[in-house]
Amino acid sequence: MKLFLDTAVYEEIEEAVGWGVIDGVTTNPTLIAKAGHDHEEQVKRICQIIGNVSAEVVSEKRDDMIVEGRRLASWHRNVIVKVPMTPDGLAAGKVLAVEGTRVNVTLCFSVNQALLSAAIGAYIVSPFAGRLDDINEDGMKVVADIVAAYRQQEIKTLVLAASMRNPMHVTQAALAGADIATLPFSVLKQMFNHPLTEAGQKRFLDDYRKTQEAKPAAAPAKR
Ligand code: E4P
Repeated sequence: MKLFLDTAVYEEIEEAVGWGVIDGVTTNPTLIAKAGHDHEEQVKRICQIIGNVSAEVVSEKRDDMIVEGRRLASWHRNVIVKVPMTPDGLAAGKVLAVEGTRVNVTLCFSVNQALLSAAIGAYIVSPFAGRLDDINEDGMKVVADIVAAYRQQEIKTLVLAASMRNPMHVTQAALAGADIATLPFSVLKQMFNHPLTEAGQKRFLDDYRKTQEAKPAAAPAKR
């Protein structure tokens, strides 16, 4: 399972790219607003340091979304155009996909919506697990069911587990067979943590320092 970062904050992306653990970034209008930068400038900047950058259309009608999607795709070859899981969104996504643009269908909450996304030739479908959990539905079961249905039907659309709220979600998404999980920076950082790693590393370094202190002082150089 590939890991994407769910943010539009450049500094977070830069840091995670430095760790070598992420393969892409997902943005949405809320994340762009939080980052507080111009959409085009920010997406282009992110595309300089990482591939697979989802950028979302904000138009509501099919034809407007097509024009907007083409514009987003023209910003950089790393852009994946996100369209909403609505009739207009899918109709626009179909045109963009036929033109060769990679399309990510966002706001997916059911297997049937994922089947519709696959039918337009979407590159990615994004089930929002956390938001389903928020309304007392089992988000990760929906992710697992989409993966199972796609396998059964030999569908190539990638399943991207979105709306990940904690490190448990990431483990569950991997076990469910998701192709990608997109994580807030805070969740990505939590993935590194284990008390035994911390304690083990401290002990290794303490023991190493002790061997250095126990070494006999180097003999003075001969003249
Ligand atoms: C995915 O592409 C979305 O940006 C994201 O995962 C939504 O997460 P949220 O429900 O935490 O806003």
